[in-house]
Amino acid sequence: MRMEAQARAALITGASRGLGRAIALALASDGFAVALAARDERSLHLVAAEAKSAGAPDTLVLAGDLRAPEEPVKAVEQAVAQFGGLDALVNNAGATARGDFLALTDEQHLDGFALKYHAMVRFCRAAWEPLVTRKGAIVNISGIGAHTPEPGFTIGGPVNSAVINFSKAISKRLDGPRVNVVSPGHIETDRLSRRIDTYAEGHGLTRDAAKEAMRGELGIAAYGQPDDIANMVRYLCSRDAAYVNGACFVVDGGATPGI
Ligand SMILES: NC(=O)c1ccc[n+]([C@@H]2O[C@H](COP(=O)([O-])OP(=O)(O)OC[C@H]3O[C@@H](n4cnc5c(N)ncnc54)[C@H](OP(=O)(O)O)[C@@H]3O)[C@@H](O)[C@H]2O)c1
Repeated sequence: MRMEAQARAALITGASRGLGRAIALALASDGFAVALAARDERSLHLVAAEAKSAGAPDTLVLAGDLRAPEEPVKAVEQAVAQFGGLDALVNNAGATARGDFLALTDEQHLDGFALKYHAMVRFCRAAWEPLVTRKGAIVNISGIGAHTPEPGFTIGGPVNSAVINFSKAISKRLDGPRVNVVSPGHIETDRLSRRIDTYAEGHGLTRDAAKEAMRGELGIAAYGQPDDIANMVRYLCSRDAAYVNGACFVVDGGATPGI
């Protein structure tokens, strides 16, 4: 990968752990200053320290609940004020409830959209002009539930599909930053860990046995690691991806059954 000429700045949501943390550290090691958004301030400071060690010239912690309509504008304004501009926006924060749709409430549906869809739209709007100025990039994190609907994932799947549809739509404006999507498969983060625990409980298995049984059912040779996603995001934020726009990249170890 080519070395970037000047220090650039990125804002990453859901950066306190999991994929967001890995993405922040990958961009830091590419020389980006990183603004880290999520609720858990203490974890964000720990990630900021790791980002500094990885090579970030500057860091900014943005602690807040991103479901609140005013948070994205505030976060972007603070990042632009501190870094002097913005080159990359990674919308990664997401938390959608699983379960049978007959049991899921309106509140759970609205909550799933509030964070992963509406906050993403607000971040894209708030960061649009700064990203135009720097000829920057947006990467929105979706998920393979968008491509393969499942009866137990009737909030996350539609939210992820909406993320892809919106991303493609704004990429067609052609006046703005490049806009791409990454759809992760089954990646080992807290989120997957909770899913394995639920599977173990539901099937009366030990955690290790549940992890292995679930892997078999999912049709993958191994679970993915956060860096598998971070590596794709860092490429999409780099100038090597200058001609990549309006695309969706599935990074799932082959889990998706169709083409
Ligand atoms: N891991 C996978 O296998 C997988 C697969 C497909 C798609 N994805 C997608 O990838 C993204 C990251 O997943 P992950 O596995 O890294 O999840 P995770 O470990 O649960 O992390 C979620 C991140 O979102 C933040 N967040 C949650 N609620 C928030 C809120 N209300 N306001 C601000 N930040 C909030 C969390 O920080 P705080 O708790 O500190 O706020 C955390 O940093 C999600 O959009 C998920 O749908 C993941």
